[in-house]
Amino acid sequence: MKKSLSNIVDLDKYPIHDLQSPKIKKIIEKCKTELDNDSCSVIPNFILPNSLNVMKKELEQQLNDVYMSKESINAYLYAKDDPTLPKDHPKRIFMDRFNGYLNSDCFAKNSEMKFLYETDELLKFVSACLGIAPIYRWADPLACHAYNVMEPDGILPWHFDSCEFTLSLMIQKPDQGGIFEYCPNIREPGNERFDEVKKVLDGDRSKVKQLKLKPGDLQIFKGRFTMHRVTKITGKTSRYMCIPAYVLDPWRVNTPEHSKAIYGKVLPIHLERNKVRSDGLTD
Ligand SMILES: [Fe+2]
Repeated sequence: MKKSLSNIVDLDKYPIHDLQSPKIKKIIEKCKTELDNDSCSVIPNFILPNSLNVMKKELEQQLNDVYMSKESINAYLYAKDDPTLPKDHPKRIFMDRFNGYLNSDCFAKNSEMKFLYETDELLKFVSACLGIAPIYRWADPLACHAYNVMEPDGILPWHFDSCEFTLSLMIQKPDQGGIFEYCPNIREPGNERFDEVKKVLDGDRSKVKQLKLKPGDLQIFKGRFTMHRVTKITGKTSRYMCIPAYVLDPWRVNTPEHSKAIYGKVLPIHLERNKVRSDGLTD
């Protein structure tokens, strides 16, 4: 069957195909305010239940292809210590990570999620919610719209994303745990605010917020500037998400180190495009 946006997104509630409609304008305004103030906005029941089942099935059919990794990592997603830095520097604080991805290059050609990510309607809607244009689909062939799998005992420690804007679509909720926590806008281009980052890593909860997502909800999130984590999964049910991402630079991809550590391999594009960032922030 040919795919259509109307079978995936609840267009009656969220007419993202018609950005001039008063209904969607109101929603965009609300999202923009939340993103400006809080770096994060949630659109409940964005994905239709049937489409959610399709996404869950396509992921479950390929669970054997999920790259699971377990390692100790810092908030900048590096596993290697830098002894030239002071002992208490946030880059020298390492935390347990146990997490997996179905890389975007493993997706079937007719994947529901891939279809949704490649629609201009979604891109333009997200751009309007952020109030930023142009934004681009991420050029990283492994990470651009990966499924994320967190099995029982899975944990994603405090970190920043490499891409500027991340969508999180919840596909399956775990029994317990797996709560998304975040510290809005803790860093900005040219300003790492290591002292603030360190406070959070040391356990200060004063700037930490929590978000409880349900299957079908869409979260739009400024992951490069907002430190975030997912608490440990307990119980028997895995947490399934899809994490499509958008960026400001249509050329850039993950660094070779990140690609190897998180997605399990390095492609020629990661080596060719491994250049210093223009925003001055650590990947
Ligand atoms: Fe992240």
